[in-house]
Amino acid sequence: MTLRIRLAGIVAIVIALPVMVSCAALVWQPAMPPVTPPKAAQFSPEVIARGAEMAAIGDCAVCHTASHAQPYAGGRRIPTPFGLITATNITPDVESGVGNWSEAAFRRAMRDGVDDQGRFLYPAMPYPHFTQATDQDITALYAFLMTRQPVHAEMPPNELPLPLKLRPVMAGWNLLFFKAQPWRDDPKQSAEWNRGAYLATAIGHCAACHTPINALGGEVSSKPYAGGEVEGWDAPALQAASSAAKPWTVEELTDYLRTGLSDQHGAAGGPMVDVTRELATVPEQDVRAIATYFVSQMPKSPTVPPAPKENESVAAGSAVFAGACAGCHAPNAPMVQRGAPSLALSSVVNAPSPRDAIQTILHGLPWREGKTGPYMPPFEAVLNNQQLTDLVRYIRARFSGGPAWADVEAQTQNARQNGGT
Ligand code: HEC
Ligand code: HEC
Ligand code: HEC
Repeated sequence: MTLRIRLAGIVAIVIALPVMVSCAALVWQPAMPPVTPPKAAQFSPEVIARGAEMAAIGDCAVCHTASHAQPYAGGRRIPTPFGLITATNITPDVESGVGNWSEAAFRRAMRDGVDDQGRFLYPAMPYPHFTQATDQDITALYAFLMTRQPVHAEMPPNELPLPLKLRPVMAGWNLLFFKAQPWRDDPKQSAEWNRGAYLATAIGHCAACHTPINALGGEVSSKPYAGGEVEGWDAPALQAASSAAKPWTVEELTDYLRTGLSDQHGAAGGPMVDVTRELATVPEQDVRAIATYFVSQMPKSPTVPPAPKENESVAAGSAVFAGACAGCHAPNAPMVQRGAPSLALSSVVNAPSPRDAIQTILHGLPWREGKTGPYMPPFEAVLNNQQLTDLVRYIRARFSGGPAWADVEAQTQNARQNGGT
């Protein structure tokens, strides 16, 4: 997962510094007194279970785990355009984790992005979303974390340039882009819709990837879920601009979010894979609520693209397809088991940019241990840039009625350099 601050964020710092200086009072936050680590018996099993659910929806383990042997022990380096920010050890180890954090200190980190010592956190930690979490859910998350196995693990330092290295600078960023506000239900919507909206916004932080960001690295609040960019992948629009060829139904979206595969739309292959692995562990009704919230914003009727037609310039790609892909993707392909959707239905093939199609071909689809699921091998080492470019132009022309993608060659080169899973 990636910090949603972009290059132009440097500009933010320049603007933010004077703002910050003039508001020096906002920059100072007190340290919170340490506590004796709470005993597991202090927390009820129901509260811990709810915390586990919130931790899964909030992807805490995705960022805060570097080695699967040591969940929540931190050390994963989150790439940002400025440098690397380490997700910290949030196991209850007293020396290197959050073992002596009080619940009040934890609440402040979640709500205000300030650590136990009073230092500002970087928004690589999604506190701009967690700030809306209810007291009950923050309490549950605290109970869950405090009952994990303590792991002693010192963190590699962040690698950030000046002035970003200086945490008080984040007070300026907060002033510009961060609003601490409690969650409010929309009384015009159903209970299920509101539950889904809350889980998606305050816990699941779907917008951190699926909403575009402005030049200064803040989410563009006027364009919620209009599509964003993360680790070399496009995170597609989840509202009216969805590129799905057939409209998503609540049923299908629930299925996709829990399995990473939709028979009607394609499969998760990039950063969304981890999100779906976490959602696979939470009660189905929560995922269904999230799906209800998003489907209500998506188109109801299919976009009917003009029928695709083959043309000369894609002949070379056609040969690559026949050799490398047709065994699985031609109609009636022998290797297709679980009613794999035609590429014509794939959101990736119908997307406005070729980026995710290129990433899918380069990196394939990951094997899901213990589950029958889609598997597609990576072609990174098999296809050269020319073959990949021809192939991508071909699948667009053959399977989508959308206009030809303009920048396939540049995107191909770009994708080789960054991204993947
Ligand atoms: C997108 C990645 C990401 C996700 C998801 C995420 N975190 Fe973090 N978190 C970070 C990073 C990076 C830091 C360190 C930020 C810094 O150094 O300023 C951090 C810091 C923290 C801290 C402060 C710890 C300390 O030692 O200062 C706490 C507490 C925390 N996260 C809890 C959580 C919880 C609980 C969840 C899930 C509900 C969560 N995080 C989800 C990236 C993430
Ligand atoms: C870390 C960034 C990230 C987060 C957080 C995230 N997504 Fe995604 N999502 C992506 C990316 C990137 C893709 C494109 C395909 C891929 O990665 O496999 C995607 C694909 C999707 C798709 C497929 C859309 C289509 O038409 O094919 C849906 C639906 C989706 N995400 C919903 C969600 C929901 C709901 C949440 C919150 C619970 C969420 N995402 C959180 C990055 C993210
Ligand atoms: C071993 C079988 C196999 C091979 C070989 C294979 N694929 Fe796939 N591919 C799959 C499966 C399974 C899926 C997931 C189900 C789906 O979306 O069709 C998939 C999905 C895709 C997707 C859509 C992803 C999405 O989320 O919508 C694209 C694009 C794709 N493949 C392109 C290719 C291309 C191009 C080649 C040849 C270079 C290729 N595949 C070779 C099995 C394969």
